[in-house]
Amino acid sequence: MSVTVRVPAKVNLHLGVGPLRPDGYHELVTVFHAVDLFDEVQATPASELSVGVVGEGAADVPTDSGNLAWRAAALLAEHAGVDPEVRLEISKAIPVAGGMAGGSADGAAALVACAELWGVSRAELPDLAAQLGSDVAFPLLGGTALGTGRGEVLAPALTTGSLHWVFALADQGISTSAAYRELDRQRAAGSAPPPSLDAAAMLEALRAGSTERVAAVLTNDLEPAALALAPALRRTLDAGRDLGALAGIVSGSGPTCAFLCPDAGAAVKLAAALAAEDVCRTTRVAAGPAPGATVV
Ligand code: C5P
Repeated sequence: MSVTVRVPAKVNLHLGVGPLRPDGYHELVTVFHAVDLFDEVQATPASELSVGVVGEGAADVPTDSGNLAWRAAALLAEHAGVDPEVRLEISKAIPVAGGMAGGSADGAAALVACAELWGVSRAELPDLAAQLGSDVAFPLLGGTALGTGRGEVLAPALTTGSLHWVFALADQGISTSAAYRELDRQRAAGSAPPPSLDAAAMLEALRAGSTERVAAVLTNDLEPAALALAPALRRTLDAGRDLGALAGIVSGSGPTCAFLCPDAGAAVKLAAALAAEDVCRTTRVAAGPAPGATVV
């Protein structure tokens, strides 16, 4: 009777942050890229809604309505006109508060799993995902996609080949809203670079399948904010670049750092070298694009 859904982490290959909107969100031009670092959400019919979490950083994940998977089940139940009588077991491999949209991925996975249980069609899920958060719609789709609006308006991007990554995980998380607030503060103080609202160079590099060109145009407008909130990340980025990454950026709002490597072998070597440098808690090797939320 259980349904299990596997869902990928994401890194933003381009994260252009526009002005703050009246609704409290920023206008984005972003390129989402799913990587093969997966959480799993298992949904089982039960007498009431509940959430359990095991795995990477589980102790820091809420098991009540603060969890996007909980809110996803509640929203879908309301939409379907059923009671949210489901137990959600989340198995985490995506770093918590790491800038890789792990919480959003769990929300997307819960939507897919509960939709299967309650007979809701997959076509109805993107709208519900967008109501749950800016990053919840993308993990439904996976692959690589251009995101606009506040990140929830998606168009699949054409890509050739795979990208090979090392992710350096940090000890402490960064709250997404804190990172955006810090960027607003830097902009008000005149110390932030202008917004990167044109992702054309990234989309062209992806179409061409050139890892070197992708590396050259990796962009994250939130990086200076993440570095202000977690200054130690500068050492992590420097170490990855010195040890042979083609490029390194902060992933999303951080603090995870993402290093692009020429191939899978180089990524394994870089992960080991970084782990020996004492500049991060641990490392993960991953490749993208990975598929979106899938029933397993
Ligand atoms: O949509 P989500 O709940 O994931 O966003 C978390 C927080 O990140 C928001 O409350 C907001 O402060 C910030 N955010 C933003 N602009 C976006 C996406 C997120 O300011 N486009």
